[in-house]
Order: sequence, then C-alpha cells, then structure tokens
Amino acid sequence: MRLANSYDVIVVGGGAIGSAIAWRLGQTGRKVLLLERGQIGQEASSAAAGMLGAQLEVKEPGPFYHLCLESRSLYPRFSMELFEETGIDIEYTRNGILQVATCEGEVEVLQERMRWQTADGGRAEWIPSTLVAELEPALAPVHGALFLPEDGNVFAPRVACAVGVAAKKRCTVLEGADVTDIQSTGTHVVVHTPTDSFTADTAVVAAGAWADKILQGSGVQFGIAPVKGQLFSIRPTGNIRLTKTVFSDDIYLVPKRNGSIVVGATEEHGAGYNRTVTMEALHELFSRVQSIAPGLSDAQFERAWSGLRPGSATGFPAIGPIPGHPRIHVAVGHFRNGILLTPLTAKMVVHSIEGNPAPELWSAFRPEVHLAMKEGHATW
Ligand code: GLY
Repeated sequence: MRLANSYDVIVVGGGAIGSAIAWRLGQTGRKVLLLERGQIGQEASSAAAGMLGAQLEVKEPGPFYHLCLESRSLYPRFSMELFEETGIDIEYTRNGILQVATCEGEVEVLQERMRWQTADGGRAEWIPSTLVAELEPALAPVHGALFLPEDGNVFAPRVACAVGVAAKKRCTVLEGADVTDIQSTGTHVVVHTPTDSFTADTAVVAAGAWADKILQGSGVQFGIAPVKGQLFSIRPTGNIRLTKTVFSDDIYLVPKRNGSIVVGATEEHGAGYNRTVTMEALHELFSRVQSIAPGLSDAQFERAWSGLRPGSATGFPAIGPIPGHPRIHVAVGHFRNGILLTPLTAKMVVHSIEGNPAPELWSAFRPEVHLAMKEGHATW
C-alpha cells in the first residue's frame, strides 16, 4: 500500500516540458506528482514566442537537427490531443518561416543551409528579393530569403496552460513547492521541499534554468544557466500584416492568429535570474524591427516581457536517467527550443522510465553523452 506522500513518479518543474511529461505519465495510469516552485507555466514556457523552428534554429546537420524535426512532426497530433483533453487550442499553425538575407554574405550562408537540408530530405526554398517584397510588403528590401515551409508556430502561453490543465487532470499538482534536494537509494527517491518530503520510484527533473540547483545533491551538473530573452508584441493598425514568421540574424517577428506579432528576442548571458525588462533592450529591438520591417512602424505597441531560457554547457538538451542515479531522470538544457521539443521530450522520458531501449537518435541525448561532451571527451 502506498503512503499519502508516495508516488510512482515525481516530476519537478511545471513548465511546458515538465507538465507534458507529467500528463503523459499520468495517461499511462501511473500515480504522478508534479511539483512547481511558482505557478504552472509561468516562466520560460509562457514567455516564448512559440516558433517551431526545427529547420530554422539548427545551423548544421546532425542528431540535434533530427531531434527537432521529429518533435515538429509530433505537433499536429499533440495539439489535437491537448484540445481533446483540455478544450484549449494551442493555435498550431504551419505558416512557414522566412529567414531573410540582409546582406550578400548571408545569401551564401543561407543557400548552403538550403543545400544540406534539401539533401537531407527537408523542404527549403530560395525566394528572390522581388518575391519576398511581394509576399511580405512590410519588409525592407532584402537580398532574398530562405523559406522553410514546414516550420510553424504555436501560441506558447496556451501551450504552457494546456499542458498544465492536462497534467492537473491526470496527476496531483502542487504549486509553490520549491524542491531543495532529491535523494536516491536503490529502491526509491525522496524529494524535499522546505516543508515536505515525498517519495517515489522515480523522479524527473524538468526545472528549466533551475535544474542544476535541484541536482546539486546528486553531484551531476549539466552547466545549466539562465539566458534571458526580452520580447514584446505589437498589433499592426493598417492593411500591412505579416503572413509568415520573419527571422533575421538578430530579430524575429512571429504573427499570431489573434492579429498580434510577437517580436524577439535578446539573448543575455550572465544576467542571473533577473527578469527585468529594460529600456536598453527594448530600444535595440524596436530599432531592429524598424530596419527590417519599416511597414510596421505604425503598429500599436501591446506589451513587453522576458523569460529565462535554460542554456546548457553543450547547447543541447539531456534527456534520460543520470549516471549513478538510475531513479533520477532529467529533461534539461532545451535552451532556445523548449516549446518545439516538448512533445518529443515527454515521449522520450516516458519511454525511458518504462525501460524501453532508445532509438539510436535519442541515445545521442542521454545524460552520460551530454556530460562527456561537456568535459570534451565526446562529440557526435
Ligand atoms: N527560440 C527563440 C528564442 O529562444 O529566442
């Protein structure tokens, strides 16, 4: 018989990834506890612009590219299942991403990306400058653009909310539960907060930028550090809108179904856990928008916010049990791709807890591989 504070699995971290893991584990019939230090979905997940940029964000071929593609391919079904479970529409949209070349030098870089992605079987097309101007009249003249028709976007705050609601239907969820330590023995784990202790067969740490703090007692550290991003949203007032997500080296604009455009983002390393929105960053972002999309200059400003991406020592996520502690699993270090990788990460964690052998691609993201890469002892 199980005690009241005893579970099959305890998930630490109620962002999109932690909530999705808890939901998926709950669907298997396991008794799951989800612990969140603040409120479900209120950190990086709901701050994200929600790009599903599997082809956009990855600069070279390799396992990470294929991980991102696999997760992107899960989104249509993931979005449907979330809607069935919660009635929340996460606004999954496959509107494509245009990565514009603002100088001749960028043309060669983007065309090289197009070559290796098409050779790999992906869809990537070169759009000449005249056609870019026709497609997106809000943009300043560019030197052409790489169009990635299969990349898309979701409304990230709705993803964070929907997986949270789904988790609450299938699991016990405690907010305001700040996990200070996890101890593991051969038979179980004990998860401590300042006021309570909970036991389970397995713990999963999916605590975003806070993950290394929680893992400190285990002696396993992934070099997780917060990387602040500041964003804002605008609403076009005239007839000129954006139909596709537009990305250039230092700025992106993501049109949402409700008519807003989310603009991001700074990438601030070493700023700690401070989420202040600053004049300096907004000034920089505003001037970049004006130079890339002057047709949006009279758009109405809506609001500005920030989030803390979980950067890692390798820049890649680690997913699975940690060395020396087979009962502690992690899903950490998703950096710029947490929303994109949510459906697949949840699937991988369930698969790993069930003790199934991992497909070869997934093995590249096992924590021991990540730790060896961090120490410079391995590459893919
Ligand atoms: N994925 C976009 C960002 O992290 O800014």
